[in-house]
Amino acid sequence: MKTPEELRSHRWFGGDDLRGFSHRARARQLGYGPGEHLGKPVIGILNTWSDVNPCHLHLRERAEQVKRGVWQAGGFPLEFPVATLSETYQKPTPMLYRNLLAMETEEILRSYPIDGAVLMGGCDKTTPALLMGAASAGLPTIFVPAGPMLRGHWRDEVLGSGTDMWRYWDDRRAGLIGEQELSELERGLARSPGHCMTMGTASTMTSAAEVLGLTLPGAASIPAVDSAHHRMAAASGARIVELVWEDLTIGRVLDERAYADAVTTVLALGGSTNAVIHLIAMAGRSGIPLSLADFDAIARRVPVLANIRPGGAWLMEDFYYAGGLPGLLSRLTGLLHPERVTVSGRTLGETLETARVHNDDVIRPLDDPIAPEGGIAVLRGNLAPSGAVIKHIAAEARLLTHTGPAVVFENHADLRRRINDPALGITADSVLVLRGSGPLGGPGMPEYGMLPIPDRLLAEGVRDMVRISDARMSGTSYGACVLHVAPESAAGGPLALVRDGDRITLDVPARALRLDVDDAELIRRRAAWTPPATRYERGYGALYAQHVTQADEGCDFDFLARPGRNPEPDPR
Ligand code: FES
Ligand code: MG
Repeated sequence: MKTPEELRSHRWFGGDDLRGFSHRARARQLGYGPGEHLGKPVIGILNTWSDVNPCHLHLRERAEQVKRGVWQAGGFPLEFPVATLSETYQKPTPMLYRNLLAMETEEILRSYPIDGAVLMGGCDKTTPALLMGAASAGLPTIFVPAGPMLRGHWRDEVLGSGTDMWRYWDDRRAGLIGEQELSELERGLARSPGHCMTMGTASTMTSAAEVLGLTLPGAASIPAVDSAHHRMAAASGARIVELVWEDLTIGRVLDERAYADAVTTVLALGGSTNAVIHLIAMAGRSGIPLSLADFDAIARRVPVLANIRPGGAWLMEDFYYAGGLPGLLSRLTGLLHPERVTVSGRTLGETLETARVHNDDVIRPLDDPIAPEGGIAVLRGNLAPSGAVIKHIAAEARLLTHTGPAVVFENHADLRRRINDPALGITADSVLVLRGSGPLGGPGMPEYGMLPIPDRLLAEGVRDMVRISDARMSGTSYGACVLHVAPESAAGGPLALVRDGDRITLDVPARALRLDVDDAELIRRRAAWTPPATRYERGYGALYAQHVTQADEGCDFDFLARPGRNPEPDPR
């Protein structure tokens, strides 16, 4: 147990010197008397609330419940507004800014008198950003996941955000629905605060945070507007104060076993492909090697148990009623490390003792899975020397072994312009290739990976095709989309050398992605290739372009991912 004099914040507030005097005087200016804060752990609440972020709309109120818990447990809460990464509104993509929020998180925690951190967020990139920064800062940390929004509704149908948006937009393009239906759908797709309630990146990453041991048990599955979410926030506030006294730092929670368990869980959830990039980046901050090969190896022994869209039928609200993440984990204990410590103070195994599954269709038993193998496969071959991924459970089975002629688009603007051009002669067997959409090329690796199917083919009933890109794909998307091709085309990867008509082979069972063009020809094409011009001459984009790593390395900044000295500030 720590003593009050050993608190990090004591260096700011405790000293009998000019600076101590000044820091105490400014606490009076904040409106607190000495008895209200001196000797108490200072809890920094990092809140990603913003008027522009519908997924975090309730977090302003929820921060008050965290503070309630902190006060009750004898701590001193201070809320810090940090950057909001709204998946819907921020362009070109919040992925460009994930590392910016990670830097902000780390530096806020480092530069202020904070003893323990509560991180609040859940929309896609927010979770990895906060956890990457917190892992580097190294304080006791608890994560308060924003929670999924309620189920969507339209007429007599249940809707999934993202997933059904893509689907109905395709119906609109095929002329199956009109203006009236569309405006009704606008009102029904997302109808409460909270993050996407499909098994998209948000639900995947908050669930990963929970199994890593960084949330209270069950926290990630609670719907954002459920009263249980208020209670979880208050309980997290109370618990972080104890974590400070116990000196249970984030580094003691996040070990190699924790990341292996996170990969296992993401795969059993049929989670987002984005998790591959984020977990590699997070593990890097914890000093733990995690590679694409680890994902593929674990995927081969983990069945998909969560029957949640886009890979399955239900939504997060149903998952919560069915027992939530603890219910699912209780079926995986043989594949996890139950002896690991979590922020609850109990081991992972102890937190699962009372976990139950209440609906065997939503959370499948091991002998009746959605898919016998994990939902993500890692592909390699001459088109992706450093790897690529595919969420094969969300693809039409007939396409998982496929050879077809390439139709190449230079970038997303080119794709939008030409995808419906009949002169391209696209058929259901064509392989659509999009380049210029990676970490550098995008920039920020936008979610362009679910390339649209040409209108003409949609009208003929074609709903899936093989698509290949160096982009990412929304976790709520689906289809035979090969993603994260590394190295990306803008960095000179072989994707840059593909030409219309080249034959490409996708073979998911063999984990292969091949460009059927001989090496001599590829060497000739490479000699004629010129790298794209620099996009950003100044600003954050220029910093990003200089330091971002490729998808297989997590797209972190090289100078943030590497170990090294980063001294504590001296408050005097
Ligand atoms: Fe925020 Fe989907 S838009 S999680
Ligand atoms: Mg998303």
